Amino acid sequence: MFAISLGDDGAELGPLEPWQAEELLAHMDRGREYIGRYVALPTVCTDLPSTRAFLQAYADKTAADKGRILGIRLDGTLVGGVMLRLMDTAAGTCEAGCWLEPSVSGRGLVTRAVRVLIDWAVYERGLHRVEWQVSSANTASIKVAERLGMTKDGVLRESYPYRGVRHDMEVWSVLAPEWRAAAREAR
Ligand SMILES: CC(C)(COP(=O)(O)OP(=O)(O)OC[C@H]1O[C@@H](n2cnc3c(N)ncnc32)[C@H](O)[C@@H]1OP(=O)(O)O)[C@@H](O)C(=O)NCCC(=O)NCCS
Repeated sequence: MFAISLGDDGAELGPLEPWQAEELLAHMDRGREYIGRYVALPTVCTDLPSTRAFLQAYADKTAADKGRILGIRLDGTLVGGVMLRLMDTAAGTCEAGCWLEPSVSGRGLVTRAVRVLIDWAVYERGLHRVEWQVSSANTASIKVAERLGMTKDGVLRESYPYRGVRHDMEVWSVLAPEWRAAAREAR
């Protein structure tokens, strides 16, 4: 219901709401180790109450227009998601994020889903800057940023302590004029 097709392989982008916590938890259990290598999402969604609370926090952000979360489903099964972790309509900025369960990586699902999210941020909401923060060790996610045509702004050295390691966090971004120009070139 209310899903956007991501291509002809049965992939869709659709709602991920508190009532779908059970679906998210089952998906997280399939991908917990892989997803958790660089991001804390699996340690946030550990059981049904914590998963529901996570989705409720996003429902609250959505209501306040300060963030969004959407699920990626393949033939009806939740296999990943994309989010605007932060959104500031006054400043015209947002920060995007993503994850997938390992069985569906390597087929462009996240790249396709984030494109829809950036289209929405730029064309519908008029935001100017979409940011991507990623550990410099997270090669797959850096490749997504590159594939999206983002520019590496810089590195927040050792800014993210995670699992006993202080990660260098790369900041990537695309600006609205760049996004529009790339769309024109692709036509
Ligand atoms: C980051 C993450 C989502 C990237 O997953 P991914 O599968 O590499 O990304 P995509 O879904 O965009 O797929 C890209 C791959 O599909 C291929 N592909 C196939 N069809 C494609 C298409 N139509 N469009 C784009 N890529 C396509 C690409 O060539 C690429 O393969 P490659 O990496 O071997 O070059 C995944 O590694 C993940 O969930 N990691 C754990 C959570 C995480 O770190 N999240 C990011 C936090 S910053």
